[in-house]
Amino acid sequence: MEVKKKPVTTTWGPTTKAVHAGMHENTSRSVTTPIYQTSTFELRENREGAEFANTIEPSTFYTRWGNPNFAEVESVIAALEGAERALVTSSGMAATATLFETFLQTGDHVIVPAAVYMGTEQLLKHLTATKNIKVTFIHNTLDMDEWERAASVPTKLLWIKHPQTPLWPSPTSVKLFSWPNATILKRSQITLLLHRFIPALLSGELI
Ligand SMILES: Cc1ncc(COP(=O)(O)O)c(C=O)c1O
Repeated sequence: MEVKKKPVTTTWGPTTKAVHAGMHENTSRSVTTPIYQTSTFELRENREGAEFANTIEPSTFYTRWGNPNFAEVESVIAALEGAERALVTSSGMAATATLFETFLQTGDHVIVPAAVYMGTEQLLKHLTATKNIKVTFIHNTLDMDEWERAASVPTKLLWIKHPQTPLWPSPTSVKLFSWPNATILKRSQITLLLHRFIPALLSGELI
């Protein structure tokens, strides 16, 4: 049975979005979305397989490409963040690696705080060795001159993490370094990656 999609409304508050923003991904009649414990979805005919394989984001296919549970989480996150789209990955490092793979070409320059997550630092060092990616580490994230000096050479990506563990500055620190950075970004056409780290209990990364 065809289920009518609920449009996400901008007047919805965060709690309503958290409950309803992804509901249109549920094409069953169940009030809560069933959990699809499958890697693969049945194809009704060969043509369907060919079409799915050419679709950027099929709703059902091979789970890594299309699964209604992933799609629902992505819709909720996008609605809560006021973003156009979201993409969920199975781990934080999978998201980080996907972004680097998407944005970085051989020889590109990246700016990151020195206190970046150890796995990200190791990945960047690996990319320096294999793809000649140049990395500038910012030691005092509140020192605008340090960001400015780093951005004085052509730069592809600027990575900000919030909250900045292990320093844990106040939530306003994102404002403190995002305003001057906005000027740097506009002038230099650098892509900003904001890594929102949701502390331990919720256990998640938003990039
Ligand atoms: C700040 C931060 N970034 C990234 C990661 C990597 O996430 P995952 O272990 O899901 O790959 C972690 C994991 O602890 C983390 O604490």
